[in-house]
Parts: sequence; C-alpha cells; structure tokens
Amino acid sequence: MASLLFYLSATVLLSQSTVAFNCSAPPIYVDIHKRAVHGIDRFQYGSFIGVGSPAQNQSLWPSLSQNHTSFTASTYCDNSTLNDCSVSTGGFFDRDLSQSFSENKNFKAYDKQRNGTFTGIFGQDDIHLYTHYFETDGASQTLLTNSTIEVAQTGVIAPSIVGIGQSSTVLDDLFARGIIAGRTYSLYIGQGMNRAGGVVNGSNVFGGYDAGRFTGPLHKYPMKLTNMNPMTVRVNDIIITDSNNPTSNISLFDTTKFPSMKTRPNTFEAQITTDQYPLSLPYEITQNFISQLSAEEDNTWGDNSLKLKNPFNGTLSIVLDDGFTVTLPPEVLMNASNITPIQSRKPNSTEPFYLSTAFLGQVYLMADFDSYSFYLAQAVIKNNAVMPETFCPKTTPVAYERPKQSKWVSQGLIGAVIGGVFGGLGLGICAFCFVMALRRRRDEKKLEERLEKGKQAKLAQFEVEDVPVFDPPPKTKGIFAWKKR
Ligand SMILES: *[C@@H]1O[C@H](CO)[C@@H](O)[C@H](O)[C@H]1NC(C)=O
Ligand SMILES: *[C@@H]1O[C@H](CO)[C@@H](O)[C@H](O)[C@H]1NC(C)=O
Ligand SMILES: *[C@@H]1O[C@H](CO)[C@@H](O)[C@H](O)[C@H]1NC(C)=O
Ligand SMILES: *[C@@H]1O[C@H](CO)[C@@H](O)[C@H](O)[C@H]1NC(C)=O
Ligand SMILES: *[C@@H]1O[C@H](CO)[C@@H](O)[C@H](O)[C@H]1NC(C)=O
Ligand SMILES: *[C@@H]1O[C@H](CO)[C@@H](O)[C@H](O)[C@H]1NC(C)=O
Ligand SMILES: *[C@@H]1O[C@H](CO)[C@@H](O)[C@H](O)[C@H]1NC(C)=O
Ligand SMILES: *[C@@H]1O[C@H](CO)[C@@H](O)[C@H](O)[C@H]1NC(C)=O
Ligand SMILES: *[C@@H]1O[C@H](CO)[C@@H](O)[C@H](O)[C@H]1NC(C)=O
Ligand SMILES: *[C@@H]1O[C@H](CO)[C@@H](O)[C@H](O)[C@H]1NC(C)=O
Ligand SMILES: *[C@@H]1O[C@H](CO)[C@@H](O)[C@H](O)[C@H]1NC(C)=O
Repeated sequence: MASLLFYLSATVLLSQSTVAFNCSAPPIYVDIHKRAVHGIDRFQYGSFIGVGSPAQNQSLWPSLSQNHTSFTASTYCDNSTLNDCSVSTGGFFDRDLSQSFSENKNFKAYDKQRNGTFTGIFGQDDIHLYTHYFETDGASQTLLTNSTIEVAQTGVIAPSIVGIGQSSTVLDDLFARGIIAGRTYSLYIGQGMNRAGGVVNGSNVFGGYDAGRFTGPLHKYPMKLTNMNPMTVRVNDIIITDSNNPTSNISLFDTTKFPSMKTRPNTFEAQITTDQYPLSLPYEITQNFISQLSAEEDNTWGDNSLKLKNPFNGTLSIVLDDGFTVTLPPEVLMNASNITPIQSRKPNSTEPFYLSTAFLGQVYLMADFDSYSFYLAQAVIKNNAVMPETFCPKTTPVAYERPKQSKWVSQGLIGAVIGGVFGGLGLGICAFCFVMALRRRRDEKKLEERLEKGKQAKLAQFEVEDVPVFDPPPKTKGIFAWKKR
C-alpha cells in the first residue's frame, strides 16, 4: 500500500513538473492610489495601468471574479445610472486615439456571471503596467502588447477593472510571454477609496507578493472553482468587542445572547470579493448585529450598509474555520457618520455571503492559480517596507521578518514610497542603498516635507510610530540587481 501511494504521488509530481516555471522572473508591482487619469479631471483610486498607444492612463479597480480587464468607453456615461458617472469610472478610453487597438468581433467573453453590470466590445491592445515606488521618481512600465481587453459601452457600475478571476487574461498573457514566473498574484486593496474614507494605499503584485505587506502566520485555503469568486472561506464565529471593556466579547452566534435563535447557526461559506465594500452575512447574524448595536437600514453609499443609531467604539472579529481571525478596527466598524461595513439582508435572499473590500482592508491576499490555492495573512497597514518578491507557483510566500533594531534609521536612509509606505525594495538592496545615498542629499528636504505631510494624514485616522522606520529588506540578491523595469 505504501509503495502504491509512493508511486501515485511520484506520478503526480512528475506530471506537475512538466510545466516549467521560470522563478527568476521578477514580479510586477503596481500600486493602488488616487491619481490623474485620462478623461477625468478628478483623481481616481485604483491600479496604475494604461491602455493603448500612446498610453491613456487609468485607475483600474481589481476584481477577483472578473476575468477580463476592461476600460470605460468615452460614451459610457451617455446612458448609465452610475452615480456621478463622468467623474467616477476610473478613467475613459478613447479607442480612436489608440494606434494599437483592433476590435475582435468574434471574441467569446469569459465573463458570463456578471449579471448585467455592464456590456462591452472586445479587442486587442497594449496594456501598460506602471511601477511607481518613489514619489520623487517617474514610473517605469511593463508593456504587455496585444492583450485582450474589453471596452465597456453601457452599464450601471464603474467598469474600469483589472480582472483577476480564475481565467484572468492579464495573468495568462503575462505568464505565456514569460514576463512573470507563474499565474500568481497578490493584493492589498488599501483604504484610500472614498467609501473607506482612509488614507492607506494598496498594491497589486503580478507574479509575486510584497513581503513587507503582511505579518504573522500564513493561512492556506483551496480555491473553490465553482464559485464566481473562487477565493472562498468558511466563517466560524463573529465577535463584537467594546473597546472600553475588552472582556465584553459578544458572539453573534450565541443563542444565550440572542434567544430568537433556537440553535447555534452553522458555520457559513463566504466568498472573498472586491466587487462590493460592505460584508454580506447570513440573515440571522445580520439581525443579531442590528439588535446588538441598534443598527438601522441606510443607503448613503448605494450599497445598503447599515447605520448605527448611536456611536459604538469597538471592533468586529471574523473567525474563520482554521482559527484565522480578522478584526475590523473601530474606525472601520463605524465611520464618522455611524455607517458600518455590514450590509442589510433580506430573509429570503439567496445571494452568496461576502467578505468584501472592508474585510480585505485588513488582509493581505496571495493567490496561486497554478495550484488553485490562496493564502491570507494579517496586512501590515502602518509604515512598512515595499518588498516585491517572486511568488513561484506551488511555493509558500514568506513574510519579511522585521529586525528589532534598525541602524538604518540613525543613518537617515528613508524612502517615501507611493504605496503608502516607507521603505526599500527587495531586489538588490545594495544597489538600492547606493541609489538612496546618492539621492539622499538632494531629496532630503523634499522628502522630509512629504513625510511630515504623510504623517499628518495618517495621524488623522491611524496611530503611527513617531518616526517612519526604514527596515532593510530580508536578503541580498546581488549587488546591482536593482533596475527599473
Ligand atoms: C528566466 O527569467 C530571467 C529573468 O527574467 C531571464 O533572464 C531568463 O532568461 C529566463 N530564463 C528562461 C529559461 O526563460
Ligand atoms: C440605455 O440603457 C438602457 C438600459 O441599460 C437600454 O435599455 C437603452 O437601450 C439604452 N439606450 C441607448 C441609447 O443606448
Ligand atoms: C471567470 O471564468 C471562470 C471560468 O474560468 C468562471 O467560472 C467565472 O464565472 C468567470 N467570471 C465571471 C465574472 O463570469
Ligand atoms: C447571477 O444571476 C444568475 C441567474 O439569475 C444566478 O443564478 C446567479 O447566482 C447570479 N450571480 C450572482 C453573483 O449574483
Ligand atoms: C501616463 O503615465 C506615465 C507614467 O507615469 C507617464 O509617463 C505618462 O506621461 C502618462 N501619460 C499621460 C498622458 O499623462
Ligand atoms: C494579436 O492577438 C490576436 C488574438 O490573440 C491575434 O489574432 C493577432 O495575430 C495578434 N497580433 C499580433 C500582431 O501579434
Ligand atoms: C462616513 O460616511 C459619510 C457618508 O455619509 C462620509 O461623508 C464621511 O466622509 C465618512 N467619514 C469617514 C471618516 O470616513
Ligand atoms: C475608544 O476606546 C479606546 C479604548 O478605551 C480609547 O482609547 C479611544 O479613545 C476611544 N475612541 C473614541 C473615538 O472614543
Ligand atoms: C475576545 O475576542 C477576541 C477576538 O476573537 C479574542 O482575541 C479575545 O481573546 C477575546 N477575549 C476574551 C476575553 O474572550
Ligand atoms: C423575498 O420576499 C419579498 C417579499 O417578502 C419579495 O418581494 C422578494 O421578491 C423575495 N425575493 C426572493 C429572492 O425570493
Ligand atoms: C497615497 O498615495 C498618494 C498619491 O496619490 C500620496 O499622496 C499619499 O501620501 C499616499 N498615502 C500615504 C498614507 O502614504
């Protein structure tokens, strides 16, 4: 029996190893923040990606369900019910201005489950993935030529989206052309969008992960490929804790606290999605939340997020079935207008349950579409270092261990990074130091001013350490390995 098992697993290993991954291909880091985009004179929060030639820059929202990467046609808002359409699509794409666009009328869309959010035409064009570490520097680009894109013509949502569904055309194309190591991808969505009201920027890493963005143990889950959002977990418990009374834990699953429930609710399956901001929980759990915190229906944001009658200073912890606990801090659980990130729910609703953008504001997500598994870990939200590492398929990401003491601070080597963080770069730390040391004198003043401003902005909502600490990256990968891509 043992030997049979051995041969079986050997066969599996052999058949798996026929796909060659080039794990020295560096990852592509694309930050998520507010920026100028083509066709809108107001900053848009999203991933820094351009389309066409010459490039029309956009802010694309990452979706874990949509497979296509889509851009908004210039005429989209002529007939759309999207609120403030002309200033909230993430950019506009005028295909007549692009010399590289060619329509593909015969293309069969991969996205079949989008349920009428928008419709578009398909074609091939160039996609520009911008990497922008330092605010003082220009961006560098990774060019993905002749990739399939969708141009949204009519619809009801903001359709400028980078699609990271299980058949993501961007990941497929990047991998097929040998640009990234495998169909791997990591996301920190950040909290800089208007709905979250925060200041922390996010990032995408294609073919990699940001080792500086997460901490603590890694939790691994299989993807559930039959779900529109394959990244699916089970929720075991949800606990509300009053910050002024930390022993006051109340479980929304507790039948003694909520006697309207005859038995403890079952654990439930929830899909991880960026397609909406508020969490959607089972009806009776939502009712318990409403009764515990005196919440009421509200639709300020058009997403049915519940609103509290009275302010509540406390947290909400979501406990997954493997014990991983994600805690929404007080400023997320209730914003200045008492609005919560929990959606109301109809008793007979058959919609899936969602752990959505509000959840991902606390979590770093790392997905491996070659082994159909994904990892979650606690996101590092405060000052950290940007350290993109290659995420080789079927390997486990490793968080950067922060040293207890950093001599770098005393040397004053501080880098302001647009990713909303301060720090350095995993690839070629020595080259990085060298560059930084050269630049330091020139940029010191500008940098200090910016850090001061950034600090003020952060202090408005988050606690931060007094001094932005620059932690050196974990390992050296060759003296002059660092170069702009
Ligand atoms: C692997 O990727 C590295 C870095 O992009 C590249 O220099 C090398 O040629 C690639 N190797 C193969 C076999 O494609
Ligand atoms: C406008 O949108 C509605 C619904 O999405 C559709 O029925 C109608 O045909 C559209 N009109 C035009 C001119 O595209
Ligand atoms: C993306 O493609 C997968 C199949 O690879 C499909 O299951 C999923 O529903 C698609 N996403 C959407 C939004 O249709
Ligand atoms: C989309 O609509 C179909 C048919 O009404 C339904 O089966 C499916 O669950 C819906 N998907 C989502 C994500 O709402
Ligand atoms: C788009 O962004 C790139 C990278 O920052 C920049 O070089 C280019 O000038 C931008 N294009 C426009 C039209 O602003
Ligand atoms: C671009 O992609 C399309 C569809 O994949 C293909 O038919 C076409 O030949 C490609 N064009 C070039 C110049 O590679
Ligand atoms: C809370 O939400 C309201 C929308 O009613 C918004 O105006 C306000 O800026 C938000 N406050 C914070 C601190 O996010
Ligand atoms: C919430 O409670 C904590 C702990 O008691 C306290 O430090 C904090 O100032 C409170 N915040 C507000 C907005 O009342
Ligand atoms: C309350 O719940 C939190 C989150 O699950 C947990 O970390 C903490 O230990 C609990 N405290 C008590 C007193 O049970
Ligand atoms: C749920 O019930 C309400 C009325 O109680 C009804 O209007 C609605 O159509 C029902 N929805 C579903 C999905 O059955
Ligand atoms: C987020 O990015 C913007 C650039 O759009 C920058 O001005 C801001 O300081 C960043 N936020 C933080 C907290 O660093």
